[in-house]
Amino acid sequence: MSNAMWGGRYASGPAAVMEDINVSIDFDKRLYRQDIAGSKAHAAMLRAQGIVSAADEAAIQKGLDQVLAEIEAGSFTFKRSLEDIHMNVEARLAEIIGAPAGRLHTARSRNDQVATDFKLWVRDAVDGLDAQLKDLARALAEKALAEAATVMPGFTHLQVAQPTTFGHHLMAYVEMVGRDRTRLADARRRLNECPLGAAALCGTSFPIDRHATAAALGFDRPTANSLDSVADRDFVMETLAAATITAVHLSRLAEEIVIWCSSPFSFIRLSDAFSTGSSIMPQKRNPDAAELVRAKVGRVLGGFTAIVTVLKGLPLTYQKDMQEDKEPTMDALTSLSLAIAAMAGMVRDMSANAGVMKKAAGQGYSTATDLADWCVRSLDIPFRDSHHIAARCVGLASERGVPLHKLSLAELQSVDKRITADVFSVLSVARSVASRVSYGGTAPKNVRAQARRWLKKLAD
Ligand code: ARG
Repeated sequence: MSNAMWGGRYASGPAAVMEDINVSIDFDKRLYRQDIAGSKAHAAMLRAQGIVSAADEAAIQKGLDQVLAEIEAGSFTFKRSLEDIHMNVEARLAEIIGAPAGRLHTARSRNDQVATDFKLWVRDAVDGLDAQLKDLARALAEKALAEAATVMPGFTHLQVAQPTTFGHHLMAYVEMVGRDRTRLADARRRLNECPLGAAALCGTSFPIDRHATAAALGFDRPTANSLDSVADRDFVMETLAAATITAVHLSRLAEEIVIWCSSPFSFIRLSDAFSTGSSIMPQKRNPDAAELVRAKVGRVLGGFTAIVTVLKGLPLTYQKDMQEDKEPTMDALTSLSLAIAAMAGMVRDMSANAGVMKKAAGQGYSTATDLADWCVRSLDIPFRDSHHIAARCVGLASERGVPLHKLSLAELQSVDKRITADVFSVLSVARSVASRVSYGGTAPKNVRAQARRWLKKLAD
């Protein structure tokens, strides 16, 4: 059978493989809400402009409400022979209300329709992600406030570098999530222009009101160029680029959780709710959720790569290639949503092993910089020379097999006789972190102030 929507001069239906490659209903059925909302706005505008009668519009609105109800109730039969969500909805509308259904497609095309539907879907997804990221930031800041004075090693090159606090470390991710949210907000702001009414590609001769449909669908304004309206998928690329950065951030925290949970570290513990066992090794507590969050970035970057590759070199305007935008986008953003939810759950669940962290913070001569700084401050020695003195003290401590603060004053003075007992006041890890009060520094009072500032910002 030829297609009822566009098959006017087609004698036969498509080859089976043609249908297989052409159909999108299997995935674009997820656009049903947006598709029906777009059609309702379009129909209301057509009536307001005198393009369809009040009676026909009323029938269309009622019919569309019924289609929506059927889809939500699960009683709607999606037909592959009708290709996509747009034609499935319209065909069912025709079954329900008859002839007036044929007036809905006046002054529009599936090209502006799909661009509108997908923009609305991506916009909804962005709003959902933003709410989730806000929740994650809150979980991190709350944990950070509680752990503001919990000393842990700060790492560079994954070598113990200087003592920091667990709270300070978690607050680093609050900053990252904060930036992620501004990137999504920026993408949302730019995408919020309505393509509906661009029709196939050149606009229409009907006296439509694009400002009215744009406003009805919550867009800031209609898009200004009809060709761009149907050809543009920047909103997909931009959102997935922002999503990729977020997924990368999540993967870094996930990796740290995996490291912190492993028994040589044992910095944190995840409860049974976020751990899994091994079917052969009874002692195992695996951080599967963290590992999966770490891996999800593959799907998100994969989606970004897919859409950018599809669009590269694509001539204006709409090309069927663009149908390939939906599956990767939907998979990427749905995966990211799950990853954020799992991460927020883990952050709330994890508990710090403060003793283990503190002990590790003191290993690796992590207060050597404090010793050098003390020489600058108390002995007025230039930093470069102080660095050498501290390095020799580390050498001595390493020879003796003791931490820096376990060297005797005499031993320290054997390196430089100007050193006094006052130096011991900076060699402990607690003193080290407390002293780092520079703006953005690791001192617990700074961490508390930052955590409170963020919690206040995240409260509304
Ligand atoms: N299913 C199509 C898509 O997702 C809808 C637009 C089709 N337009 C057309 N002229 N064939 O892109």
